[in-house]
Formats: sequence, C-alpha cells, structure tokens
Amino acid sequence: MNVPDLKKAKIRTNKPSLYKDVLKINSDIFKGQKYFLKTYGCQMNVHDSEQIRAILENLGLEETEIMEEARVIVLNTCAIRENAHDKVFGYLGRIKHLKKEHPDIIVALGGCMSQEESVVNEIIKRHPYINIVFGTHNIHELGNLILNNHKDQDIEVYSEEGCVYEGMDYQRDSKITAWVNIMYGCDKFCTYCIVPYTRGKERSRKMEEIIKEVNLLKEEGYQEVTLLGQNVNAYGNDLNLNYNFATLLEEVAKTNIPRIRFVTSHPWNFTSEMIDIISKYDNIMPYIHLPLQSGSNRILKLMGRRYTKEEYLDLVSKLKSKIKDVMITTDIIVGFPNETEQDFQDTLDVVNKVKYDGAYTFIYSPREGTPASKMPDNVTLEEKEKRLQRLNEIINQYSKESNERLIGKVEEVLILGESEKDLNKVYGYTKGMKLVNVEAKKDVIGKTINVLITDAKSFSLDGKEN
Ligand code: SAH
Ligand code: SF4
Ligand code: F3S
Repeated sequence: MNVPDLKKAKIRTNKPSLYKDVLKINSDIFKGQKYFLKTYGCQMNVHDSEQIRAILENLGLEETEIMEEARVIVLNTCAIRENAHDKVFGYLGRIKHLKKEHPDIIVALGGCMSQEESVVNEIIKRHPYINIVFGTHNIHELGNLILNNHKDQDIEVYSEEGCVYEGMDYQRDSKITAWVNIMYGCDKFCTYCIVPYTRGKERSRKMEEIIKEVNLLKEEGYQEVTLLGQNVNAYGNDLNLNYNFATLLEEVAKTNIPRIRFVTSHPWNFTSEMIDIISKYDNIMPYIHLPLQSGSNRILKLMGRRYTKEEYLDLVSKLKSKIKDVMITTDIIVGFPNETEQDFQDTLDVVNKVKYDGAYTFIYSPREGTPASKMPDNVTLEEKEKRLQRLNEIINQYSKESNERLIGKVEEVLILGESEKDLNKVYGYTKGMKLVNVEAKKDVIGKTINVLITDAKSFSLDGKEN
C-alpha cells in the first residue's frame, strides 16, 4: 500500500523530471464485458479519462453509459471544492448497492481525491468494497491493477512526482478538437488550492514530443488543439533548456494546425513575448482565460497570487490593445476568509473595468492541508452566497453584452456536432470561443464555416451559414 502524505507534499526536490515510456497492456480477458467511466473536474481530468478509456479498451472492455451493466466501474475524481467530494461520495452510495448484488464488479477510484491522504483513509474505512485506488501519477498502471485484482483492496497511489510518461494511448472524445498536455503539476501553491498537492510539482513535456503529437493530430484531421497545463506560462522552467511557453506556442503555430488555444495562464508571468506570438499567428485563437480570483490587493496577497489589481488591469489592457478581437474569460472566488465588503467591491471594480466575455465564479471552499483552511473566517455562508449572486448578475450582463456585440457580424465557426436542443441545427465555436447554434446542413460538422450571427443569449449565439 502506497498512500501519499499531504503534509510532506510541499517538500520539493530539484531532481530533473524523468522521462519514461509506458508499457501498454493488451489483453482480451474482458472481451464482451463493459466498463462505466465517470469523470469529474477540469480539462486535465477529462484528458486523463481519455487515457483511462484507452487502457480499459486495451483490456477488451467496451464503454457503457449504464453503470448497472458494467463489469468495471472507474470514477475519475476531483478535489477542488467540497461539492466535488460530495458528488463522488453520493455516487459511491449507488455503487455500494450494486456491489452487494454483483460482488464481482471491479470498482476503481482515481483522480485528485485519491491523492488526498484523509480521503484514502476514509475510503479504506467506509468503502471497503472499492477494489482499486489509483492516483494521478500512476494512471498508466490501471490496466495492471485491474488484471491483478482479486477481491482485495489495492491502493497504489504514488507521492513521487518526478516522472513524465510518454507513449500513452488516448481514446479521444472528439475527432475534431484534441487536448494536448504540455506540462503536469503546479508549483504556485495559491493558499486556497489543493492542486499542487494532488498533481505534484511542475513537469514539462519535451517540446519535440508535443510537436510530434500535434503533427500526428493534424495528419489525423484534427482542427484544433488545446495546450493543457495548470499554469502554461511556467512551461519549460523545469527543463533548463533555452525554450519557454512563447517558443513552444510559436512552434505549435508553425505546424499549421488550424486552431490553437491554451489553458490556463496565470496572470503572473504572462510575458510580452507571449502576447507578441499570440498576435502574430492567425491560428492561435484570440481567447485568453485569465483567472482573477479576487480584485482586492489584500486578498490577492493572502491568496499568494503574486500580482496586484493594478498589474492585472495593466495586463488586460495590453492584451486588448495587442490581440485583435481578444475574448477574455476568468475565474473568481468570493468569500475567501475574512473577505470584507470593500474587498468584494474591489473584485466588482475589476469586473466592471474588464467587462469579461465570460466567467466561472465560486464560493471559497476550505481544502484540508492548504494554508487558507487554517485562516479564521468571519464571513457567514449566507453573506458569501449573496455576494456570489450579486457577482453573477454583473458577470451575466457583461457576457450577454459581449454576445450582443457580435450580432450582424460574420464569424468563423468550427462546427463540432449536432445541436442537442434543435435537430435542425449544428453547433460550434468562434475563434474567441463563443458557442454558436447554426442553421446548416450536417455535412459541415468538422469544418470551419462562415456564420452570420443573428441573435445573442446570455451563454450562446444563434447564426446561419453565410
Ligand atoms: N490552474 C488554474 C486553476 C485550476 S482550479 C489557475 O490557476 O487558473 C480552477 C478554479 O477553481 C480556480 O481558478 C479557482 O477559481 C477555483 N478554486 C480553486 N480552489 C478553490 C477553492 N478552494 N475554493 C473555491 N474555488 C477554488
Ligand atoms: Fe491552484 Fe494556483 Fe496552481 Fe492554479 S496556479 S492550480 S489556482 S495553485
Ligand atoms: Fe479537480 Fe484535480 Fe482538476 S482537483 S479541478 S480534477 S486538477
């Protein structure tokens, strides 16, 4: 049994990342049987699930949407906020029932919750029917763990975090857009955030591996790649080579893959070199997700965010002046410990100045083991909920206005599929990541077409092929 110790996780070594090739397991031992995979959390987890899917299918399993049909159940969990935990524990209740009726089902729990020591301890005690617990650093071992599992509880969660695995298979969700990991982990240790503990230290993939993957995706006909990292600005810092995120972005642009975007960039260390490259290449989408978290300098300091309100606003004006038609979205946390009405007003002030094209907003959720969870807090949940509501009203107004500005314009839209709400329509995204429902024939799926925007709602646009 190998369970990470959260308290020790902050001790970082200077050891360089080790690059390893994964061993693929192919077997038809589960041929004709099914697997059920449930994914929580961010794009990182969504992409990890594409790897999990490939591993399960290499064992002969086929995917089902009905949990009751499955021989193998995998939950890929998230730990970012308390409600992410609650959802998983709710699901475990259902699985417990199912396991009573069908004891030979294999249940595996992976993702960020598995990297939390207290959660793993709770699982050992309260959920003994879970067969396998695996972490975010050893996904590639899942095939082996499933093959070797004989009714016992196998807990294999690594706390070592020095490796970058190459040569993995992915069973991707889409044939049009693809996620590409450029780095793993996070070294920022924002005081509220669990990610550096669950994902380990920053490790960059080598540039040649990333370019090789993008070229392969292009050959397969992919139209868009999203470069993934918890903080892409830090790409390359751990490699001691003479390249950084701007260099990488330029090399990816030169592959001529039609669309490139990236998530997430920290406002700290967003260099002017990066801005220049984004504005230079047409295939880099003018879309920046730039998490603000708070507009109050006092709170930003307590959060350990490394920028001030003024520096953030300065960066936004540079982005707006240098990148044509740039769309800017953000993440905001309300109710950080002891947040005052004045602190909150500072957040609203930034929102009113930036006029975001979209935003994700959250109530602060204390995470065990993080510095913020030990800070005293005099703000009631009721007050936090009220602030969230006040913030959302303003955010929604700006995102609606941002959509309305596009009415009458012709936008390039990459069409991803049939619209779920209206079978006569397809849907896709503009270069600025605006969702558009389009009146067009189905044969445009996978293509970029010109669309005249005819109407705007809060979260989407309507249009017709032009
Ligand atoms: N690496 C990304 C963030 C990943 S987590 C970045 O730095 O931008 C996504 C978002 O979840 C964060 O931007 C933050 O707004 C929110 N979040 C993280 N920890 C949280 C917590 N403890 N409570 C509430 N929201 C949190
Ligand atoms: Fe969390 Fe901060 Fe790292 Fe983002 S940059 S993952 S918010 S610690
Ligand atoms: Fe959740 Fe882990 Fe992502 S905590 S948000 S799945 S990195």
